[in-house]
Amino acid sequence: MTLDDRQKWNSKWSVREFDDCHRSTIVDLVATNADLPGRLLDVAGGGSPTSTNLALLGFDVTVLDVSDVGLAMARDTAAEAGVEITTIETDLDKEPLPEGPWDVITTANFLKRELFPAMIDALAPGGLIIVTVATVTNLERHERPGPPFLAQPDELPQLSANLEIVHHSEAWRSNDRHEAHLVARKP
Ligand SMILES: C[S@@+](CC[C@H](N)C(=O)[O-])C[C@H]1O[C@@H](n2cnc3c(N)ncnc32)[C@H](O)[C@@H]1O
Repeated sequence: MTLDDRQKWNSKWSVREFDDCHRSTIVDLVATNADLPGRLLDVAGGGSPTSTNLALLGFDVTVLDVSDVGLAMARDTAAEAGVEITTIETDLDKEPLPEGPWDVITTANFLKRELFPAMIDALAPGGLIIVTVATVTNLERHERPGPPFLAQPDELPQLSANLEIVHHSEAWRSNDRHEAHLVARKP
């Protein structure tokens, strides 16, 4: 990611209120599948209320993002809700994930295929990776996100080699997006 990309996301988060249609069902997937207490890393979670909602569930949440503006939004949302989160500004194109082990790693609406081995490495034994991302079928109703950011059919389980697949589904969701959902456990 270049400086331009960081600026791009900073300017997006500066003018954009969080779009409620993107409100992530990842929180429900965590609530249903992950045990408390736990150290949870939300990858590319800037700008979103997801980290706050995960902290409200009782997880010890760290949110990582390249956008300092998005991270400030996440901190503000957490403060308004009366919960604490930790934020880390990281460009995942240049820098590694923060050191684990993490009991849960979540990532919503951010498909960085080459990051999967590092996310799996950073999980504690028995830890969960939980992903929600739009699929190529989403293009039937929406121009965006564009093809590079969309999961191919069955791609998420393939990216999670050697993990136990706890849940995988691809469907139109209540937010009118066609999303792949994955919950996978490290042995
Ligand atoms: C589509 S938003 C998704 C935000 C949130 N996860 C959600 O579901 O609403 C993508 C996020 O990825 C972040 N991002 C993009 N490239 C990144 C990179 N190289 N390293 C870290 N974060 C990045 C952006 O700043 C942005 O907050």
